[in-house]
Amino acid sequence: MLPLLLSLLAFNLRPAFAATAEQWRSRSIYQIITDRFALEPGAVVNECNLADQTWCGGTWKAITQNLDYIQNAGFTAIWISPVNQNYQGPKTAYGDAYHGYWNADISKLNEHFGTADDLMALSAEVHRRNMYLMVDVVVNNVMSTSLKPDWSTYYFTDPADYHPYCPVDFSNITSEQDCWLGDTTVPLPDLNTESASVVSKYGAWIQDLVQTYSIDGLRIDAAKHVKPNFWPGFAKSAGVFCMGEVFDPLVANVAPFQGASLDSVLNYPLYYALVAAFGLPGPQNMSALTTVLTQGSAYQDTTVLGNFLENQDIPRWHNLSVDPQSHYNAMTFSFMSDGIPIVYYGQEQGFSGNADPFNREALWPSNYTNTTSYQLMTTLNQLRNYMINTTDWATQKTNVLTSDQHGIAFQKGSVITVLTNIGSPAQNLTNTAFQSPWSQGTVTIDVIACRQFVVASSGYLEVEYTKGGVPVVLAEAGSLQKSGLCSTVFTALHDSSTGPAAVAQSSALRSLRASLGMDSLITLLLMTSLGFGSGWLM
Ligand SMILES: *[C@@H]1O[C@H](CO)[C@@H](O)[C@H](O)[C@H]1NC(C)=O
Ligand SMILES: *[C@@H]1O[C@H](CO)[C@@H](O)[C@H](O)[C@H]1NC(C)=O
Ligand SMILES: *[C@@H]1O[C@H](CO)[C@@H](O)[C@H](O)[C@H]1NC(C)=O
Ligand SMILES: *[C@@H]1O[C@H](CO)[C@@H](O)[C@H](O)[C@H]1NC(C)=O
Ligand SMILES: *[C@@H]1O[C@H](CO)[C@@H](O)[C@H](O)[C@H]1NC(C)=O
Ligand SMILES: *[C@@H]1O[C@H](CO)[C@@H](O)[C@H](O)[C@H]1NC(C)=O
Ligand SMILES: *[C@@H]1O[C@H](CO)[C@@H](O)[C@H](O)[C@H]1NC(C)=O
Repeated sequence: MLPLLLSLLAFNLRPAFAATAEQWRSRSIYQIITDRFALEPGAVVNECNLADQTWCGGTWKAITQNLDYIQNAGFTAIWISPVNQNYQGPKTAYGDAYHGYWNADISKLNEHFGTADDLMALSAEVHRRNMYLMVDVVVNNVMSTSLKPDWSTYYFTDPADYHPYCPVDFSNITSEQDCWLGDTTVPLPDLNTESASVVSKYGAWIQDLVQTYSIDGLRIDAAKHVKPNFWPGFAKSAGVFCMGEVFDPLVANVAPFQGASLDSVLNYPLYYALVAAFGLPGPQNMSALTTVLTQGSAYQDTTVLGNFLENQDIPRWHNLSVDPQSHYNAMTFSFMSDGIPIVYYGQEQGFSGNADPFNREALWPSNYTNTTSYQLMTTLNQLRNYMINTTDWATQKTNVLTSDQHGIAFQKGSVITVLTNIGSPAQNLTNTAFQSPWSQGTVTIDVIACRQFVVASSGYLEVEYTKGGVPVVLAEAGSLQKSGLCSTVFTALHDSSTGPAAVAQSSALRSLRASLGMDSLITLLLMTSLGFGSGWLM
């Protein structure tokens, strides 16, 4: 009996979820800075002065208590900021370690955010909701306030565990990998990840962290700053999906980190392209976006890349682009194209802080309001989750149908997305026309505005923006019937007194559409002539 019992116990020690890339592909992620997401009941409500760069009081327990806000918007995973012990000393010129990226002794948890039990409870509650937990880990470096740190206070105590100090030369890859990030005020001592003892100690550490807290995936900070051949062994020890941060606009520099090294990378090239294409004001450079899409073949698998518009290191979308439609269109791209959509907490509240530390606003002053942006991401998640549940949508590849300076139409699986960068003002010029793969008579629904249209004989569709540039996401009505989306349209369809082209709107939908600025502003004209090219109609 005893050997059997032992093997059962050993089996049970495997993390409950320990998700793979295959499993993460179908998820959508809400990114949290633990210190800034939520306060526990009874905590002192503070406005969180960002310039102070200190703790504002968020905890793991408070995340656990506020998961409804995330799950109700259709997210199926959370990514939380690093959980390990950080620098504890007096406030530095760059503030305190509220963000979690200033590692000290990583065998311990960061007591500012709660206890081991609190973190386990968060993990358990996330799993009870069938969601995944991704934890941010910092491997490349620790933090110090001196170029000659007291190594005894770190997890890695031997000076030989670190590369010797040198400032990073960002034009030299070896220097980026071996030298110290940060500066001489707050240097970030660089681990010697070629050392066999560092490799083995890191392997043991990550295996223990993942198993103890049943972590389903890792986001790996500064992955670009470690030699790529370190990652396969680390990822194997972790035993879960790994998404690396390779902060670089070029596909050629980012793509090599996916594959043998890591399952996935954050899609920085797509981020820069979305800003170039949709930012207002901006170059409105749609070809920057199509170029990045064309380069997708350099990646091992575009369908597990992490797509984002905001994070803790870059300005909020609304600091770059104040027009709400630019945000809605770019966000729709990040959900409806290849990859795992990631929303950075506060994006749904229209936060507009600039770079660090102003992009780390506390969420509580927003009152967790059900905003237009929150509703749009809810709809996009609902459609995406439904398509993934019922079809092979997640592994289908994005196919651009047409594009020009002001718009793009693309297909993924059985969904066609039509986006524009003209922003909120009405424009007569920008009509988008393209040949859809749908045959005559197909009833389609734009799930954002809940309008239904029938495809004409040529298969051509045209979108006009006579009241402003809204995103349009089309799917065949038949495929959406059980999705719970646009239910009023289906009610109308079943009412024999209204024809298939009728559009029914509940007052709730009408108000959502009005707040999106789209009340009756999209017209999908049905092209009955073959005389149109497949480009844009001007
Ligand atoms: C690149 O950086 C490494 C590490 O600092 C250094 O040894 C090497 O000389 C540098 N190469 C060039 C071409 O500057
Ligand atoms: C637009 O993007 C393309 C592709 O990245 C680039 O070659 C071109 O220079 C950009 N144009 C402008 C006006 O920025
Ligand atoms: C951008 O961020 C800075 C710093 O937070 C802020 O002062 C400025 O108002 C922001 N700009 C916009 C357009 O919100
Ligand atoms: C949040 O609620 C408080 C108290 O009711 C109110 O003063 C504040 O304006 C609200 N903030 C937002 C963004 O709705
Ligand atoms: C947000 O508001 C919309 C429109 O009123 C509603 O359908 C949706 O259920 C709300 N979401 C939440 C989480 O309250
Ligand atoms: C997808 O399937 C899961 C598991 O059956 C279910 O819980 C969830 O509600 C479905 N989601 C959608 C949007 O259909
Ligand atoms: C669009 O064109 C129509 C007809 O030419 C004109 O009446 C209308 O004022 C124009 N609208 C805008 C916003 O330019």
